[in-house]
Amino acid sequence: MARLNIIKQDNPLIRQTSKIVDDFSPHLHEILDNMYETLLHANGMGLAAVQVGILYRMAIILTEEFGTVEIINPVIKTAKNPRYDTEGCLSCPGISGRVRRPHLVTLEYQDRNGKKHNRTFHGMDAVCCCHEIDHMDGILFIDKMEH
Ligand code: CO
Repeated sequence: MARLNIIKQDNPLIRQTSKIVDDFSPHLHEILDNMYETLLHANGMGLAAVQVGILYRMAIILTEEFGTVEIINPVIKTAKNPRYDTEGCLSCPGISGRVRRPHLVTLEYQDRNGKKHNRTFHGMDAVCCCHEIDHMDGILFIDKMEH
């Protein structure tokens, strides 16, 4: 495994829209393994592929309820119970602020083998899913930050 460089908000790549993953090959697994090592080393809660300059719709989330979850091609099917929480982002060092996000989110997504899942995330796990999915569309939490 290898650690990858996390790009910051001033890098124009962070604003790109990521593409659908359609090749669930060993190469994809290697990227995910390297993202995992990068996330742990950076002490984050979640990391989207775009943050390491890879423009594919996938992210790793360290959830409270399910442990490490890889969400590939995620689609939000249900979003409920919005609340304010303080967020930060590995691509926006030194910045934190209040963002309103749903605390109950049901996602359809694929795992690293292409298998489809439908799972409901709660609390900060739900917040983290939404934050990472925003990354896949070039959106940063600072765009939604209210105070
Ligand atoms: Co982020």
